[in-house]
Amino acid sequence: MMSLYQLRTALHDARGRMDAIFNLIKPDSWYERPIPERHRLIFYLGHLEAFDWNQICRWTLEKPSFHPEFDHLFEAGIDPKQGELPHDTPSDWPSIDEVKRYKTRVREEVDRALEEAPDPILHVAIEHRWMHVETTGYLLHHLPLSKKIIPDLPPVIQGPSPQPEMIEIPSGTATLGRRQEEGFGWDNEFGKHEIGVPSFAISKYKVTNGQYLRFVEDGAAPPPFWGKSENQWVLKTMFKEIPLPKDWPVYVSQREARAYAAWAGMSLPTEEQFHRAAFGVRNGEERIYPWGDQRPNGVHGNFNFVRWDPLPVTALPLGDSDFGVSQLLGNGWEWTSTVFHPFEGFEPIPTYPGYSSRFFDQDHYVLKGGGPLTAACLLRRSFRNWFRPGYPHMHAGFRCVEN
Ligand code: AVJ
Ligand code: FE
Repeated sequence: MMSLYQLRTALHDARGRMDAIFNLIKPDSWYERPIPERHRLIFYLGHLEAFDWNQICRWTLEKPSFHPEFDHLFEAGIDPKQGELPHDTPSDWPSIDEVKRYKTRVREEVDRALEEAPDPILHVAIEHRWMHVETTGYLLHHLPLSKKIIPDLPPVIQGPSPQPEMIEIPSGTATLGRRQEEGFGWDNEFGKHEIGVPSFAISKYKVTNGQYLRFVEDGAAPPPFWGKSENQWVLKTMFKEIPLPKDWPVYVSQREARAYAAWAGMSLPTEEQFHRAAFGVRNGEERIYPWGDQRPNGVHGNFNFVRWDPLPVTALPLGDSDFGVSQLLGNGWEWTSTVFHPFEGFEPIPTYPGYSSRFFDQDHYVLKGGGPLTAACLLRRSFRNWFRPGYPHMHAGFRCVEN
């Protein structure tokens, strides 16, 4: 349980992190659309505030609106089907100053209302913001270098050269989902249940750029963040182009991940296979985190904004699971072969009934794990992420299984 003081601090931390990312957008870039399937950047400046206002003040505490037009304009993002891209123009959006004024006013109103607000809705606002910190990070990644401010970057940690290895996971059970008594979770996490998982083998490391390169040399399209410079492969990291680091995880869409796995004679893990590899143990109770019960810390993985970019797949071995599988949390989300679906007993969040249910359309897949820009509070075992299989813009990679 978190106290009001902790909730307020968490909300303010998330706002600060979001603002720090927004501050890297050059002022004349707010009307850019770095990812074709998402809104222009200006939308996100309004969205985080409109969301908090709508959820906390309007729909929970029933306060009268001071700017109904913006409450509606900035209410929800978009996730178009392939071939149905948005075609609004910059002039369809309000001025930066107007949106900033709305932002300031909402923050004042929300802060004043915090004591009256029930805890769950504050968790909704806080975690919604953390998720957008990450997805805004993806937008920033896709914004051309000339349109963003380059921050100081931390040194890269090197790891030993990865030797691909398949790890046998004995048959056992995986516990998916969450119970209300365990604390806040999103609607799609509830319905705790056990699933029997037959034995399988899983790659110790996430698939690397070096491994994927062989697939590309065999005719596959290069992944989205790769480019060519003077006939050499380069990687477009968040803020610079570097020679392709062969020992970093490759970031690809689920479609590309699936194609690679098939090419290698394997498949993607299911959601429960990921759970089993990550949280299962040889003897005793399943773990809270792959490494055990300690709260996530920078030694366990590349998450929580220590850096913008990946590390080698062999870095930070203290995060390994009981079976010796590496980097199951952090350094990039992992695609599964499981269609995003509700667990038994699913009930939508009353103030946001479409949060998950809009995506139960058989065209979104579950991702597990987390990336460099995933906040530590989203690393709980039951957390599920989802995107369309052809969506290539996130920090998501994969590993392969043999059944
Ligand atoms: C859970 C990350 C897929 O960004 O589309 C944010 C979270 N939902 N605002 C998304 C979300 C509404 C969602 N993901
Ligand atoms: Fe949102």
